[in-house]
Amino acid sequence: MKVFATQAELAAELDPLWSSAARISLVPTMGALHEGHLSLVRLCGPCDVRIVSIFVNPTQFGLNEDFARYPRTFEQDVELLEHERVDFVYAPSVEDMYGRRAKITVDPGDMGRIWEGAVRPDHFAGVLTVVLKFLQRVKPDVAIFGEKDFQQLTLIRAMCAAFDLPAQVVAGKTLREADGLAMSSRNRFLKGSEREQAGQLYQALEYGRELFAGGERSLDVLREGMRSKIAPGIQIDYLTAVETERLAEAERVTDHARLIGAIRIGSVRLIDNLAVTDITEEPATA
Ligand code: PAF
Repeated sequence: MKVFATQAELAAELDPLWSSAARISLVPTMGALHEGHLSLVRLCGPCDVRIVSIFVNPTQFGLNEDFARYPRTFEQDVELLEHERVDFVYAPSVEDMYGRRAKITVDPGDMGRIWEGAVRPDHFAGVLTVVLKFLQRVKPDVAIFGEKDFQQLTLIRAMCAAFDLPAQVVAGKTLREADGLAMSSRNRFLKGSEREQAGQLYQALEYGRELFAGGERSLDVLREGMRSKIAPGIQIDYLTAVETERLAEAERVTDHARLIGAIRIGSVRLIDNLAVTDITEEPATA
């Protein structure tokens, strides 16, 4: 496995591959890798060249967010990826990524200003811009993203369609702990009883799915039902059902809806989602 720190080194290695029949896959990450990331890497199996990028992207963090304390475990990440038989790791510096170029960014549009975007202004402009740059630099045939960040995944698909980007976007299922908590690099910041409370987000989404399976189609009833599963004192940023294309709420919830939620526990913000009809999705431990 080779590790590249600059676009120039990466391009020198990939240049002969771009003009060959080799299929290239990319898993973009911010490092602090866990089983969830590794499950995305495993989806690259059929590709000839497997690339993972590691870059804690400053432009997707707001001023009061956790950029400085975002976990950085580079050596361990590299070891894990070596074990997964990844071919190349691209871990650029901020300078290599953005340099002194003019700050031109991707506008995520209205869909980038709701839910996560309402709480984190500029977040999706940062995400889409860096993902676009990675897609341009790596030119993968397949790019793999986790379903856990469902709005991010939806926006990346929408960007690829809007800009005619050739990469096929593949989604990987969310991996969960035994109580359903979605795996996330930020879970390590949950202290003591916070870790126990964190399971409530999945339990609330799961309850929404049960209500749906029992025939409930009213958005208000689903929303209230899910909220009732979150203990008083825990801040709910949103907990609702949206349709999966435009992420808009509709009074009558359909089979294509997604239950989405974000809550705050201590200093940690947790997000998660479930398909209303996905009855096969059991909590999966690594
Ligand atoms: O999901 C993430 O880890 C990041 O948002 C991504 C897609 C790597 C862009 O920085």
